[in-house]
Amino acid sequence: MTVTRSIVLGCGSYLPERIVTNAELASRIDTSDEWIVQRTGIRQRHIAAEGENTSHLGLKAAQAALANAGVDAQSIDLIILATSTPDNTFPATSVDIQRGLGINHGVAFDLQAVCSGFVFAMATADNFLRSGSHKRALVIGAETFSRILDWEDRTTCVLFGDGAGAVVLEAQQQPGATSDRGILTSHLRSDGRHKAKLYVDGGVSSTQTVGHLRMEGKEVFKHAVGMITDVIYDAFKATGITADDIDWLVPHQANKRIIDASAQKLRIAPQKVVLTVDKHGNTSAASIPLALCDAVADGRIKKGNLILFEAMGGGFTWGSVLLRW
Ligand code: UT7
Repeated sequence: MTVTRSIVLGCGSYLPERIVTNAELASRIDTSDEWIVQRTGIRQRHIAAEGENTSHLGLKAAQAALANAGVDAQSIDLIILATSTPDNTFPATSVDIQRGLGINHGVAFDLQAVCSGFVFAMATADNFLRSGSHKRALVIGAETFSRILDWEDRTTCVLFGDGAGAVVLEAQQQPGATSDRGILTSHLRSDGRHKAKLYVDGGVSSTQTVGHLRMEGKEVFKHAVGMITDVIYDAFKATGITADDIDWLVPHQANKRIIDASAQKLRIAPQKVVLTVDKHGNTSAASIPLALCDAVADGRIKKGNLILFEAMGGGFTWGSVLLRW
C-alpha cells in the first residue's frame, strides 16, 4: 500500500540588493564587528529598499522556486506564506503574491509563527497535501524585519535582516517507508508563557501602531537549545531515524552559537550543518528556505539526502520537519 508524501520539486530565494555590514552598523551605534561576530556569527545582513515590501521579496522567491521546479504557476493550488511582517494588516500578503503570480484559483493564506514560521508552514502544507484536498503548494517564508527594528537598540538591531525563500511541494505516492522521498514527519510546539521574552511592542488591537521588536536575548538563548533538540528527538522517535542518518541539518539561522550547541547535543557533525547566518543575519521565517536554497544551488544537497529543518522563535514556538530530498 502506498502513502501520499509531500515532495519538494524545487526551491528559490531572493535577497534585497543592499548589504549592511557590521562595520556600517558600528559607525551608527555603540557596537563592533568583533562583538557581533563573536556573539552571533553574523557579518552582514540584507536590508530591503524603501518601497520594497515583504510581498515583493516573497514573489521573487516564489518565481525562482517555480523556475527551479520547472512547473507553471497555474499548477499551484495552495500558497502558504510564513511572515510576521505583512505588507498590510489585511488582506494576507500571500494573496498579493498569488496575484503577482497570475493565479486566481486555489487558496492563499498567511501563517504567523515568527522565526518558526517556515517549519509551521511546511507542516501545514504537508497536512493539506496528504489529505488529498490540494495537489501542489508553494510554501514561502518572507520577511522585512528591518521595518520593526528599533535602530537605536544595539541588543536587537544588529541581529536581523530581510529576505525570502520558497519551495514547491507536490503530493506524490510513495511506498510508505523511511526511504520515501518527501516530508517524513513534522513536530510543532508552542508555549505562550514565554511571550514577554520576544515580542513586538505594538499591534493593531493593542496600540494601533506597528511597534518594535523587543527581546531578552539571554532568556531566549537559555531555552533555545533544549526546545530545538526536543522536537528533533520527536522526529527521530516517530521515524526510527537517528542523527547518524541525517545528511544535512538546515536550522533556523538566529545565532551560530545556538546552532553549534544544538548540533553538538544531537551529535550531528559541523560539516553537515548549513550555515548562512554570517551572510543573512536572522531573517525569521525566511532563514531556513534561504539556507536550503544556498545548499541546493551549490550542489551540497542532492536527491535522496535526508534533511532536517528546525526552528525556535517568538511565542515561544518551535518545531522540526524531517524530509528526504
Ligand atoms: O530567532 C528568534 C530567536 N532568537 C534568538 O535565538 C536570539 C537568542 N539570543 C542570542 O542570540 C544572544 O543572547 C544575543 C546575541 C542576543 C546576546 O548575546 P549574549 O551573549 O547573550 O549577550 P548579553 O545579552 O548577555 O550581553 C552581553 C553584553 C552586555 O553588556 P554588559 O551588561 O555585560 O556590560 C550587553 O549590553 O554585551 C552587551 N551588548 C552589546 N555590545 C556590543 C549587547 N548587544 C551589544 C552589541 N554590541 N550589539
